[in-house]
Amino acid sequence: MAGFEEGTRRPTISATSVDLLVELLDVPADHVIIAKRQGKLANEASTGDTKKGANLFKTRCAQCHNLKEGEGNKIGPNLHGLFGRKTGQVEGFSYTDANKQKGITWEENTLFEYLENPKKYIPGTKMAFGGLKKAKDRNDLITFLREETSK
Ligand code: HEC
Repeated sequence: MAGFEEGTRRPTISATSVDLLVELLDVPADHVIIAKRQGKLANEASTGDTKKGANLFKTRCAQCHNLKEGEGNKIGPNLHGLFGRKTGQVEGFSYTDANKQKGITWEENTLFEYLENPKKYIPGTKMAFGGLKKAKDRNDLITFLREETSK
């Protein structure tokens, strides 16, 4: 509930920023995340839940992608160093022309759009993944990826 009185439940320090805003403003998480993507909220406001992101990676991406340096490619390219890199740059991975020629730089906003519907963002991609429809899921996953791909 918005507004809290003395003695009632307060957001805990460990809450992520999205969770905190949801608690304080009493709005759905997806609204907080989308407001940020539209430039209406500061960056920190979209910090997702790394643990939930890790779990999403494990269940939805890990069968095809490694994350750590030197771990090699699987069915998909290794995602180490993804942020700030152009599409289709991992050495030794055989990309489709569609992926290579997309030509955008992978960062929060491009990943946010791509992961909702990869085949729409890159028509002709061979990545067999339907997409994560919930903004909150994509946000949690991107927060996790940002940390884990740069270690
Ligand atoms: C069934 C296997 C599979 C799954 C599941 C999968 N991917 Fe992929 N991914 C691929 C393949 C194959 C490519 C290369 C596509 C191409 O060349 O057209 C790719 C490409 C990518 C790229 C572009 C990389 C670059 O260097 O341009 C990103 C980013 C990516 N995947 C992230 C993810 C994330 C995050 C998930 C989980 C939500 C995921 N993928 C799930 C197989 C998969």
